[in-house]
Order: sequence, then C-alpha cells, then structure tokens
Amino acid sequence: MNTLTIAPLFARIVDDLATHGWSQQSIFIPTDLTTQLAQECRQRAQRGQLELAGIGRGVAKVVHAGIRGDQIQWLEEGQNSTVDRYLALMEQLRSAINQTLFLGLEDFEGHFALYPPGAFYKKHLDRFRDDDRRVVTCVAYLNEQWLHEQGGELRMYLDGGQTHDVVPQAGTLVVFMSEQWPHEVLPATRDRLSITGWLRRRA
Ligand code: OGA
Ligand code: MN
Repeated sequence: MNTLTIAPLFARIVDDLATHGWSQQSIFIPTDLTTQLAQECRQRAQRGQLELAGIGRGVAKVVHAGIRGDQIQWLEEGQNSTVDRYLALMEQLRSAINQTLFLGLEDFEGHFALYPPGAFYKKHLDRFRDDDRRVVTCVAYLNEQWLHEQGGELRMYLDGGQTHDVVPQAGTLVVFMSEQWPHEVLPATRDRLSITGWLRRRA
C-alpha cells in the first residue's frame, strides 16, 4: 500500500479500515481544538440553535425520542474558524482514504451532537434505506475528563458477537465503514458532546 505521502496518524486509520473496517484513535484531535469545539457546541445549545435529531431523511424524517435523544446542528464551512479547522482535518482524512482505498469519497457532512443526561441512540446502521452515499462514519468526542462510571459509550457490534466500547473522551476519533457495523450510544450521567459525520460518495 502506498501510504508514504500520508501523515502517520492518517495512514494508521486507513490501514485499520482496510484490515478491520474500523479504527479508534485516542489522540487524534489536538486539545485546543476539542476545547474550542466543545465551547462552540455549548454556545449553540445555549442560543437554542440545536434541534432534536430525527430518524431518516427528507420527508421521511421523524423525531423519535425512543430511538435517539440527541440534539444536533449541521456544520457549515466558512461560518467559524474552529469548525473550519475540524473540516480541514476531515478533508485530510478523506484524501488519505481515497489515495489508498479508492472509495471515491466526494465530501463530508457532519453535525455537532449533544446528548443530555439519559439520552441514547438505539442500535442502528448509518445508512438510509433511500440514500447510500454515506460510506465512512467519523465520530470525534469533545468531553474532557470523562469517567468510566459516567457511561455514554459508543458500543460497536463486531463480528462473532463481539462488542467494542468507545469512551467519549475528548481527543478520541472513531472511524468505521458505515454499512458494516451496527452501533449504539449508551446513556450517560452528564452531557455528552461529539461531532458525528460521514465521508460520502456520489449519489
Ligand atoms: C450517529 C451515531 C455515535 C456517537 O449519530 O449516527 O451513531 O458516538 N453517533 O455519537
Ligand atoms: Mn450512527
């Protein structure tokens, strides 16, 4: 695999994706960036800019608190330098994956997500029935000093009945093939902040 021109951290993710279909990096996002992103997410929540997330897409979209209870706001380029810094990282990741795995990823879409205490997202796959553009899921966590007993893990259902839990600690990035791995978000005892996004191919 020609990963020589790709920064080591990105090369590791690409390698993991190729061999296992998922990757977890505990030190991916610089601390100053996660701090600023968390601040930005909280400000948007305070200004009432976050909306209850829905299930499905377009006219089929419904809010269903029994399935997911997070509040979200989509990221837009050029609105905010902190968000732009994050989008630039995702662009680097997109390019690294395309250079080696030839998935034809065209763009990134992502949103801030805030799960209030007790909120969860039941087991699901990140693919809409009517839209198969989402190829790679990328979730970045923004929570300083997350304690194990606070819950809120991302639980991935892997092959052979195995599960893998990701603690939503600031700096961690988890990347996985959207179609391959069912996953759920377990309830937490404190606010749980993240940026969830998808690298997408052409429709
Ligand atoms: C999602 C999702 C995981 C997480 O938004 O589709 O599964 O850990 N998020 O926030
Ligand atoms: Mn998901």
